[in-house]
Amino acid sequence: MQQTSNQGAATHAAADEKNIATDSIAPLQLPGDRQLVLRVMPMPADANGNGDIFGGWIMAQVDLAGAVLPARIAKGRIVTVAVNQFIFKQPVSMGDLLSFYAKVERIGITSVTVNVEVYAERDPANLHVVKVTEANLTYVAIDMHGKPRPIPKG
Ligand SMILES: CC(C)(COP(=O)(O)OP(=O)(O)OC[C@H]1O[C@@H](n2cnc3c(N)ncnc32)[C@H](O)[C@@H]1OP(=O)(O)O)[C@@H](O)C(=O)NCCC(=O)NCCS
Repeated sequence: MQQTSNQGAATHAAADEKNIATDSIAPLQLPGDRQLVLRVMPMPADANGNGDIFGGWIMAQVDLAGAVLPARIAKGRIVTVAVNQFIFKQPVSMGDLLSFYAKVERIGITSVTVNVEVYAERDPANLHVVKVTEANLTYVAIDMHGKPRPIPKG
């Protein structure tokens, strides 16, 4: 993570030095109803035997990213109760910069369901963005005993 933000800072600094408009390398425009909740670059240790990124690593990142909005809404501890849907649309490659965008689908009595879309920025020389993964997850607010508690109102 640290490495990623340093790389980003270096890129912007270089662009500024050459007087290149950094706006032109903005990664992507997305629907306004989604929030950027995580950005991360996979490392070689996250690759599978084919050299692509291991699906389990991507699932873990989606679980982390998906929890951001529910944790805010629940104002306290939450747990993942269900991964309702998980689609790997495209493989993720080494060097891809992954951006996780989340949208709240439903707020129940004790649960919050979110949709997470993952986009990969690849090939910096010819930058393009590919949607690689989409998932739906449900998180439950829990009390100090690990039992469901109501989502606070407002
Ligand atoms: C999450 C947990 C506290 C729920 O306890 P529970 O007694 O089964 O709770 P309930 O049956 O009352 O369900 C609680 C909420 O989860 C929802 N839920 C339960 N199972 C679900 C499923 N398979 N899919 C979607 N939502 C589900 C219920 O609809 C309910 O939502 P609502 O209150 O908004 O209507 C409990 O199952 C648990 O501790 N699971 C383990 C969690 C965990 O370890 N996760 C991995 C690490 S974070």
